[in-house]
Order: sequence, then C-alpha cells, then structure tokens
Amino acid sequence: MSTLAIRGGRAVYSGTWPAWPIHDEREVERVVRVVRSGQWSWCGPEETEFRVAFRNFLGAKHGLCVTNGTHALQLALEALDVGCGDEVIVPGLTWQATAACALDINAVPVLVDIEPETLCIDPQAVRAAITPRTKAIIPVHLYGCVANLDEILAIAREHNLHVIEDCSHQHGSEWRGKKVGSIGAIGCFSLQASKVLNSGEGGFISTSNDRLFERLDSLRNCGRHAWQAAGGGDAFPQSGNFRFTEMQAALLNAQLSRLPEQTALRDENSQRLNRLLAGIPGVTPLLRREQVTRQACYAYCFRIDRQAFAGLTRERVCKALHAELNFPFTGVYEPLNRCALYRPQTKRRHRLSDAYWAQIDPKRFDLPECARAFDEVVTLGQTALLAAPPAMERIAEAVAKVQRHAHELTAWEANAAAGA
Ligand SMILES: Cc1ncc(COP(=O)(O)O)c(C=O)c1O
Repeated sequence: MSTLAIRGGRAVYSGTWPAWPIHDEREVERVVRVVRSGQWSWCGPEETEFRVAFRNFLGAKHGLCVTNGTHALQLALEALDVGCGDEVIVPGLTWQATAACALDINAVPVLVDIEPETLCIDPQAVRAAITPRTKAIIPVHLYGCVANLDEILAIAREHNLHVIEDCSHQHGSEWRGKKVGSIGAIGCFSLQASKVLNSGEGGFISTSNDRLFERLDSLRNCGRHAWQAAGGGDAFPQSGNFRFTEMQAALLNAQLSRLPEQTALRDENSQRLNRLLAGIPGVTPLLRREQVTRQACYAYCFRIDRQAFAGLTRERVCKALHAELNFPFTGVYEPLNRCALYRPQTKRRHRLSDAYWAQIDPKRFDLPECARAFDEVVTLGQTALLAAPPAMERIAEAVAKVQRHAHELTAWEANAAAGA
C-alpha cells in the first residue's frame, strides 16, 4: 500500500481550514442600516467612511471607490492621459486585467518577464522594453511578494514614465515602511470576493496627487466634476459610470476592521512557512526582500525542483498535497502570451489598424521565466495562512512527505501507463 494519501495512504491532516469570507454581525448590522436608509449609492455615509479609512490606512492623500479592479486600472491610465498608440509595460505573469486595461484605452500592453525569486516584474526586462512610445509601467505586487519598487521607480524617473501599482493581491504590504498603493503615482486595488479585503466585487484607487484625484473622481462619475460645476477647474474627458454602492462600502467598513490583524497573522505564518520549507530538498520559498516591512499575502508560493520530486509535474504535486492536507493547491496564472483568458485578437473593436493588431498579439513576447514559474511554482490560497501556527508545520510535513515519496507516484503512474 502506498504511503501517499492520493494513493490511499494516511493523510497528514484531514480536518478543516478557515472559511472565506470571514464575517459576523458587524457586516449584517451595517448592510441592514443601509437598506433601511434608502440611500443605496452616490457617496453615502458608508462610502465616505470607507474611502477615508482605507486611504488613511494606505497613507495616501486621496482614495476613490470604483466598480472593480479592472476599471481602477483603466481609469488610472486615462487619468494619466495614456491613450491611443502609447505603450504600457506590464508583467507577463498576472491576472489578464493588468494588460487588458491598456487595450481598453487603445494603448499597447507590452508584456515583460518576471524575476524568478519573487515572480514580480523584472526591472531589467522593463528597462529593455522601453521605447519612445512607453508611457507607463504597471508593477503587480503578486501573490506574496512586493515588486522591486526601488528599481522600478528609478527607471521611471530616468525615462519620465508613470508608475501605477497594481495592488490587487496586497492590501496592506509595506515597502520601506510605506504601504503599497501609496508609492507610485496611483495605486489600484481589486475588492473582488477572493481578495483579502473584499465586498464581493469592487475596486479602489489611491493617489496623493490632487490633480490626478480630480480627474479620477470625474472619470469614475460620467465626467461630472464638482469644481467645474462651481465655476472653476478644467473640463474633464467624457466618461462612464464606474461608481460603487453603499452595500459594498458597508461590507468593506466591517472587513477593514479585521484586516490589520489578519495581515499580521498571514505575514507571520508565511515567514514560518519560509523557514520550514527551506529545509526540504527540492523546495525553494520565494524571496522576501529586506525592504519589505510588512507582507500581505493573497497566496503563499514556493518553487519545486521537479527532479527532486521524481519528475512529477507541478500539477501532480499539487494534487498529492491536496490529498495530504484537505486544502487545494494550484499553480500560478498562465503566462499572458498563452493565457486562455487574454486573447486581444478575438475582439473586433481592437482592430484599429493592421499595425495595432500586430502590436497587441501576445505571442510576440518571449516570457521564459513566466513559463518556468507555471511549471514549477506551487501556490496555496491566503485562507490557509489564517490557520493557527501549528497548521504551518502540517503543511511543511505534507510537502516533505510528498517529496520523500514522490517516486511511489511516478512508479504507479508508469505501471498504470504500461498496463493501459
Ligand atoms: C493582479 C490583479 N489585477 C487586477 C485584477 C482585476 O480586479 P477585478 O476582478 O476586481 O476587476 C485582479 C483580479 O483578480 C488581479 O488579481
């Protein structure tokens, strides 16, 4: 009989894990109050409270609630006057929205490779991708690592480029003591259901620049502008409705009250896992740079050397771990040059010209580190990091067990294939 749980052996842990989202009477009371108030949208008291509380949490001068993280990125580019024909540099490993936001404003998303140690955008690759048409860089603070902001900001200064931080995975990470989202020109956050701060759907934009704030406020609200109505300020561009509801804000005010404590626990547990996994053959935790003074985690990632796992695929390792721990393990995003959900050339409105059509073809980009990460990086979702610290020992025990007994699975698979 096999030792591994996936082949019928005894699992390391078969109990339960924290559920998500976490909620209690705080959410219920606030949502009920909104329903009874009759003010369900349009910058009511819940939205104002959240806007101020979250921007203060981030240490940014301004904050705005918007429909979702995808729109936050699109509006950020528009506020910075990035548009037709401009190039926007984005990492090849991210959720497709980081690149698609550039398509939505007729700009060209330029996909670049990642640092293998952090899975975040590689500053050297950014430097190599700059052309006279480059207008902005969107570093993504991905899963459980912060992008190398020192280098990215230096490159941006040198070439006069805008930096928009995509913080959809990191509500509360700090770089040199400053919260991400308050460091580049604009910070963009998704508040979608799986995120560590969420209202089911939603987005947030932070900035400390007064002029950008005015433009963003107008862009999210059909081009309306309070200052203009009062007879001052410039005319702002045409826009649409990217507003938010009071119900979303009510949920977020309650969720935000738990965020600092949850972030501290995830950070402690991720550092604990880094120490525990570092001793297992063929396992490499990702790099936590010394500039990172607080790490928020949307997921915890580690790299495997497949040779040390008897040649098993990353997918098989994930399945074997799932069986050991009763918790799903997955890989990272599909690289954007082959991602099933990033196919710019399937949309007729992107056919602005033959030249543009060719520029937005994701296959023209070479992303070897993104491809390697897809094959070698194992991720586990943030809720595992909300378990009590001894659970991290069970996780490490399971990884060590799968590594030690990986040959049983390859032998079984070889026999099954031979018998088939
Ligand atoms: C890195 C990243 N950027 C942007 C987004 C888009 O956010 P939303 O789904 O709220 O539109 C997501 C959502 O998953 C994301 O993970």
